[in-house]
Amino acid sequence: MTSKMMQAIQVYQYGGPEELKIENIPCPEPKEGEVLIRVEAAGVLPIDWKIRRGLTKNIVPVHFPYIPGSAFSGVVEKQGPGVTDFQIGQFVFGRAKGTYTEYTISSVDELIPMPENLTFTEAATITGGAATAYNALFNEGKLVSGQKVLIHGAAGGVGSFATQLAHWKGANVIGTASTKNLDFIRLLGTDHVVDYMKTQFEKVVKDVDLVLDTVGGDTLQRSLSIIKPGGTLISLVGQPPIDKAKELGINAKRSSSFASKEDLWAIADLIAQKKIKAIADNIFTLNEVQHAHSVSETGHGRGRIVLQIADTLSR
Ligand SMILES: NC(=O)c1ccc[n+]([C@@H]2O[C@H](COP(=O)([O-])OP(=O)(O)OC[C@H]3O[C@@H](n4cnc5c(N)ncnc54)[C@H](OP(=O)(O)O)[C@@H]3O)[C@@H](O)[C@H]2O)c1
Repeated sequence: MTSKMMQAIQVYQYGGPEELKIENIPCPEPKEGEVLIRVEAAGVLPIDWKIRRGLTKNIVPVHFPYIPGSAFSGVVEKQGPGVTDFQIGQFVFGRAKGTYTEYTISSVDELIPMPENLTFTEAATITGGAATAYNALFNEGKLVSGQKVLIHGAAGGVGSFATQLAHWKGANVIGTASTKNLDFIRLLGTDHVVDYMKTQFEKVVKDVDLVLDTVGGDTLQRSLSIIKPGGTLISLVGQPPIDKAKELGINAKRSSSFASKEDLWAIADLIAQKKIKAIADNIFTLNEVQHAHSVSETGHGRGRIVLQIADTLSR
């Protein structure tokens, strides 16, 4: 630790958004293989409020007090011993433990250089949003051009990227969303939209090659009926009915891997080249973090929620 202090969000116990407290705490020091990052923006992911509520305590244990968040973009402030790949002042994004803070520590293994023309807000949407979509569609779901894919929750932090990535790949894209989001997902590249509030998707969709489910529950269970034999169901939320899927000749799995560094770079490049768009209309400051979590907890977000940590973003 140094004598330098930083503003950070701290959580002392499981509970509601009121457990997110802004405090001044000592700035950490990078160890071997790590860098200190000056955080410019942090992604607010649903997993962040699930952890804060204690819903994932068996799979993601925490030590109180902890700083929430994993997705960030920022600037390398200091190198730990032995670090030569990243230079002080370099713009980077990636994953870290605790990103709702002015400074965080990231392992160089989790760090990606930001391409030219990518903003810090855009970069903060990549891990946990675009990267999850990319990995589920292309690495786990093996989606190729010409296939038919259904994306449940097409307007959300993952779905808004999945829709655009599938469209970019040349797939025939069907998206589900509520009435207010139908025009939005059309703009993202869906060929066919289903208003889940008015229509049961299985009544109007059939023979799809891939379902990417970001909703879970009943939606996940009902999805098998619209997949053709040999097709795939990737769930981001719950365990799919594996035995029933096997009987039907469907490959069903819960997404369980992360995008590689190469994938993360490829996604960043797609955004920088404006081939896909990072939707981050809901931007909050560190002081507004409780509100940001309340919005995320509704489960009806549009695009990714982002915390702008720096007063003025460097890019
Ligand atoms: N396993 C993993 O690696 C992984 C990674 C990232 C995320 N996740 C999980 O995936 C889920 C989605 O994440 P996210 O960041 O996309 O969440 P989000 O930004 O909150 O978006 C959720 C979306 O779901 C839509 N929705 C809600 N109910 C629906 C229904 N019955 N049918 C269709 N759409 C519905 C909402 O659209 P409307 O407003 O139109 O209802 C909203 O746009 C979360 O539970 C998250 O924890 C898992």
